[in-house]
Amino acid sequence: MPNIKIKRITKNNFDRYSDLILESEQSHPKKIRSDYGDYKDILKTKDSLGLMVFEKDEYVGNIIGCPYRRWEVEEDKIKNIERGKRVFYIYNLVIEPEYRGKGYGYVLVEKFIERIKRRKYNYIVAHVKVGKSLSLFKKFNATIEKEFKNYEKTGKRYDLIVIDLKKKYFDADPKLLVKRKL
Ligand SMILES: CC(C)(COP(=O)(O)OP(=O)(O)OC[C@H]1O[C@@H](n2cnc3c(N)ncnc32)[C@H](O)[C@@H]1OP(=O)(O)O)[C@@H](O)C(=O)NCCC(=O)NCCS
Repeated sequence: MPNIKIKRITKNNFDRYSDLILESEQSHPKKIRSDYGDYKDILKTKDSLGLMVFEKDEYVGNIIGCPYRRWEVEEDKIKNIERGKRVFYIYNLVIEPEYRGKGYGYVLVEKFIERIKRRKYNYIVAHVKVGKSLSLFKKFNATIEKEFKNYEKTGKRYDLIVIDLKKKYFDADPKLLVKRKL
């Protein structure tokens, strides 16, 4: 990853990148794809965060999220989240097919978590596809809160995961202590 760059996506610059980001929605099952309006709504939400990764100025992927409200935590009956804590939701994560399996997803999630920690959130929550995506989040100490065998009628299994941001994820496995220059 010699020429990797991380850029912010905001409600103001979304139109410049929307084609790339909406195209990447094809990676998700049809029933849970988001459209232009969904992205605009997320990015308009106070304290939302969107990051894109580029390699040699080529678009590689994105991650987007926004604060998770108290009623959402309660509606999802998330047991491992204490009352009154600040919770952030990861709404989307996609790496372009030709760049998968090369560590870009890991870097993007890591950068995202660092920023959310700096904003003094306590937990990250996400609905994560079982497989590569779940395995990636487990590297960051994600615990499975709930299993959805047929998530949103997609026919696919997704798990609701929680990352407790006070846990140091590198503690999970010393082999993961990789130094990188970005
Ligand atoms: C899921 C997805 C985002 C993963 O991104 P990726 O760039 O392919 O993943 P990475 O290459 O970073 O990770 C691959 C592996 O290396 C590990 N890894 C990579 N860099 C690492 C590092 N520096 N230190 C430690 N581990 C690292 C990852 O944790 C992962 O481990 P695994 O082999 O045990 O699964 C990508 O496959 C994708 O976009 N899929 C389609 C859409 C999708 O499913 N999105 C998520 C919906 S919930």
